[in-house]
Amino acid sequence: MKVTVVGAGNVGATCADVLAHREIANEIVLLDIKEGVAEGKALDIWQTAPINLYDSRTVGVTSDYAKTAGSEVVVITSGLPRKPGMSRDDLIATNAGIVKSVTEEVVKHSPDAIIIIVSNPLDVMTYVAHVTSGKSRNHVIGMAGILDTARYRAFLAEALNVSPKDIQALLMGGHGDTMVPLPRYTTVGGIPVTQLIDSDKLEAIVQRTKTGGGELVKLMGTSAWYAPGAAAAQMVEAIVRDQKRVFPVCVKLEGEYGIDDCYLGAPVVLGRGGVERLIEVDLDEDEKQLLATSRKHVREVMEAYDKMN
Ligand code: NAI
Ligand code: 2OP
Repeated sequence: MKVTVVGAGNVGATCADVLAHREIANEIVLLDIKEGVAEGKALDIWQTAPINLYDSRTVGVTSDYAKTAGSEVVVITSGLPRKPGMSRDDLIATNAGIVKSVTEEVVKHSPDAIIIIVSNPLDVMTYVAHVTSGKSRNHVIGMAGILDTARYRAFLAEALNVSPKDIQALLMGGHGDTMVPLPRYTTVGGIPVTQLIDSDKLEAIVQRTKTGGGELVKLMGTSAWYAPGAAAAQMVEAIVRDQKRVFPVCVKLEGEYGIDDCYLGAPVVLGRGGVERLIEVDLDEDEKQLLATSRKHVREVMEAYDKMN
C-alpha cells in the first residue's frame, strides 16, 4: 500500500509522519520541488521508526514522480501558506498553477489514485484538481472539515472541561470565515451541546472556530500544520482501511442541499471507494442561509479561477 504526499513543507511532512508512525501505509513517498528537502525530512521520519517501533517506510524525492507510481492515495499539500493579513483566497493564482501541474503528474503516474487536496484556497483547489484530473467527485476531495471540527471540538472540550474524545460535531460549507459550524448537530457523550453550555459562550466558540486558522497565522506568522497534517492522515486512513468513517469533507455537490456544481464541505462516508455516500442532513432556515452565503463565496472564487483560464 503506497501513499504519496506532495509538498514536504509543514503540513506535508507532518502528514507523512502521522501516516508512518500510525502504520497507515507501508510505503510513504514524500515529494517536493526543493532539492533535498523531501529526502531529508523522509530520512528523519524513517529514523523515528526504531524509536516509535513501527515499520512503515518513508522515502523522499525531488520532483521524481516515477517514484510515486501506483500510489493508492495522493495528498497534495504543495503551495504557499498564508502570511498575516492574507486571506486563503489571496493564494489562488500561485496555488492554482501548482495544484494543476501537480495533479497532471499525479494522474500520469497513479491513474487510479484517490486525491486529497490540502492546498488553499481549499474548496477551489479541490475544484482545480477535479477539473484537471477528470476524475469523479468520489475520488477528488478536500481536507478542511476534519480540521475545522477538531478546532471546534477542542474549544468546546476546554470550555466544558471534558475529553475532546466525547465531542461529536458537524460543520459544513467552505473552508473560510463563512464555514458553517452546526451546534444542532453537536453532542457531548450523546447529550446535545446546547444543554451543557449557554448560548453566548457557544456562539463565541462558533466564531472562534470560523477564524481559527487566522488565529494561528497571527501567532506563528504562517499557517498551522500539526492538526492539518493529522486531519489529512485521518482521511487517508479511512480510505486505505476502508473504515466507512463519517466525516465532513470538501466534496462536489451535485444537487444535494439544493446546490449544484460547487465544492463545499458536507458529511460523507469515506471508505475504499473514496466518497462512498454523501449524507444530506436536515438544515433549518438559518443554517440553509449560512450555507448559501458560504456557497456564494466559494462560487465567486471558483469563477475567478475559471476566468484566469
Ligand atoms: P509550506 O510552505 O510549509 O510547504 C509547502 C511546500 O510545497 C514547500 O515545501 C514547497 O517547496 C512545496 N511546493 C511548492 N510548489 C511545489 C510543486 N510544484 N511541487 C511540489 N512541491 C511544491 O506550507 P504548509 O504550511 O505546508 O501549507 C501548505 C498548503 O496547505 C498551503 O496552501 C496552506 O494554505 C494549506 N493549508 C490548508 C489547510 C486546510 O485545512 N485545508 C490547513 C493548513 C494549510
Ligand atoms: C488553516 O485553517 C490556513 O487553512 C489553514 O489553518
